[in-house]
Amino acid sequence: MLNLILFGPPGAGKGTQSEKLISKYQLCHISTGDLLRAERAAGTPLGNQANEFISKGELVPDEVVIGMVKNFMVSKPDAAGFIFDGFPRTIAQAEALDVMLGDFNTSISIVLGLEVEEDELVKRLLLRGQSSGRVDDQDESTIRNRFKEYQNKTLPLAGFYNQQSKYVGVQGIGEIDAIFESLCEQIDSL
Ligand code: C5P
Ligand code: MG
Repeated sequence: MLNLILFGPPGAGKGTQSEKLISKYQLCHISTGDLLRAERAAGTPLGNQANEFISKGELVPDEVVIGMVKNFMVSKPDAAGFIFDGFPRTIAQAEALDVMLGDFNTSISIVLGLEVEEDELVKRLLLRGQSSGRVDDQDESTIRNRFKEYQNKTLPLAGFYNQQSKYVGVQGIGEIDAIFESLCEQIDSL
């Protein structure tokens, strides 16, 4: 199995690149942000609970997100591999993911980190907010809070995966297709 983590701050292009990667490599896409928003749109208890955190730009508690990913993976027993987009967001989530993949007799193949500076990200997110309707893309203070969460809780994962020699940083600014080529180069060299 090929199991990729697309890593990077909010607005780095994880969703955009995932779409291209799933069609090229026939992988199953797990976007925890999309799953949480779908729960919220369906008005489930999980969705309502998550919305309190999402609307403030905070992370949803680990056990909620981990349970959701586990359910999703179990529902895809024939997957050729997974692209994790927006997950894991914390060390606890990464450790839980290792256990879940172990249950599938597999592991993370590579972690591709899209690197984009913060001012560019704010611009992208505010622009996206005009059409996405996402509550957390609307004002700069919520967006800055998402970066703060990213710095404090998510960025340490780059070190976590670097220790396992799985982290590769890729320049996330430029043409979408050029960035896609750099990601494919890394995957094809595995
Ligand atoms: O991944 P995405 O940027 O779409 O996530 C949107 C929001 O969903 C995050 O800002 C956070 O509030 C929540 N989220 C989370 N934990 C995850 C994924 C998303 O708390 N693993
Ligand atoms: Mg996304």
